[in-house]
Amino acid sequence: MTAGKGTTVRFDPAGRLKGSIVPPADKSISHRAAMLGGMATEPVVIRNYLEAADTTSTLDAMGTLGAIVQRGPDEIVVRGTGLRESSEVDGPIDVGNAGTLMRLLPGLLASQEGRSYTLDGDASIRKRPVDRVAIPLREMGASIEATDERYPPFTITGARLRGIEYTLPVASAQVKSCVLFAGLTADGPTTVVEPVPSRDHTERMLAAAGVSLHREGDRITVTNADELVLDTITVPGDPSSAAFAIAAGVLVPKSRLLVKGSGANWTRTGFVRILQRMGGVVLGELEDPAGDGQIPGVEPITDLDVAHGSLVGTVVEPHEVPLAIDELPLVALLGCFAEGETVVRGAEELRFKESDRIALVVDGLRGLGAEIEATEDGFVVTGTGGLRGGTIESHGDHRLAMLGAVAGLASREGVTVVGMDAAAVSYPTFTEDITALLRR
Ligand code: S3P
Repeated sequence: MTAGKGTTVRFDPAGRLKGSIVPPADKSISHRAAMLGGMATEPVVIRNYLEAADTTSTLDAMGTLGAIVQRGPDEIVVRGTGLRESSEVDGPIDVGNAGTLMRLLPGLLASQEGRSYTLDGDASIRKRPVDRVAIPLREMGASIEATDERYPPFTITGARLRGIEYTLPVASAQVKSCVLFAGLTADGPTTVVEPVPSRDHTERMLAAAGVSLHREGDRITVTNADELVLDTITVPGDPSSAAFAIAAGVLVPKSRLLVKGSGANWTRTGFVRILQRMGGVVLGELEDPAGDGQIPGVEPITDLDVAHGSLVGTVVEPHEVPLAIDELPLVALLGCFAEGETVVRGAEELRFKESDRIALVVDGLRGLGAEIEATEDGFVVTGTGGLRGGTIESHGDHRLAMLGAVAGLASREGVTVVGMDAAAVSYPTFTEDITALLRR
């Protein structure tokens, strides 16, 4: 592998991958830890916070809203302002590239009675819809004005909120979390009805913070809280980042890898289950789904033992999509190497990520020799037993950059990734970590 000029990096076919890798800290949990720290009144200690562009945006935003953030060598301490006392802010709050920050923070801002806040971000953020959070927050009593009714920059004016029952029109953990945050100050209970389960970190963390929160089937109900009582939050490794090494280990012949300390929360391990179904060798202790009415109090972690092996195609059904949403580009790559067809259905949400991930994954992999077709709500890949290689452009999307890198390692001719620096959004040490597995 040779680093090219600027942000262009070449990933040559790898002989084998060997050794162990520790994925970076979980991005979703880090965002939530910083936000909950800002919403608490007592200091919150965060261990293993993700030091990456997206999660730095969140810490900065909480600082702008009045939290005191102290960075130590091993931990971050956040001293928050409570649920209703965020500071007034001059000018827009910059969310950078962070969709999770942009969609969750409004839940807190809606609770700031009489104060207005504007959120804005980079060019990709300005194309991502916020009406999905504006609709329920308006119903709760907040005012929201968005560009073209739908996009950032957008302004939220807080109010005394009322509890609502809200059925999510799309399975989105971000929208669910935003409404639950707003429910913390609302008069009366707030219920989110979630047609299909999505990541449940917010529920686990709020329950751990002493909030009255219950799940009955697909209904999650929160009642208002005076304060959040959090002490220490330890962030596990990110299964979505680990997925790149897992895919590389399965695809590159003769590889054997240990992925250490990855989150094993059932709502985040859909990718591993899909891969196992395709015949991939990935062994580890994954969490089982929680029983009705239960909210697990912890985030489980596991080590995963990964080995190269042949794959067969599979069909990813709509109910599996939220459990593997950020890993679906990797499912497309696995499909290129699998026998038969790999189909992903019910994943139109991919079009609203950091890029249109249906269009760009299909174009990007096709440019590397894949037989892949886009559909309205996913893609169909015909496995050809391998991938030629070539050049792929990240379009500023971190997951596309890392997809290109893994494709290169597993390809016949290697892949040049243009815009590899995008990986810093979630995984700043990705290239070094993957390279270390080659050198052993
Ligand atoms: C996230 C939820 C998912 C995911 C995103 C992070 C979260 O988005 O794609 O990367 O932290 O809640 P949606 O909830 O919009 O599907």
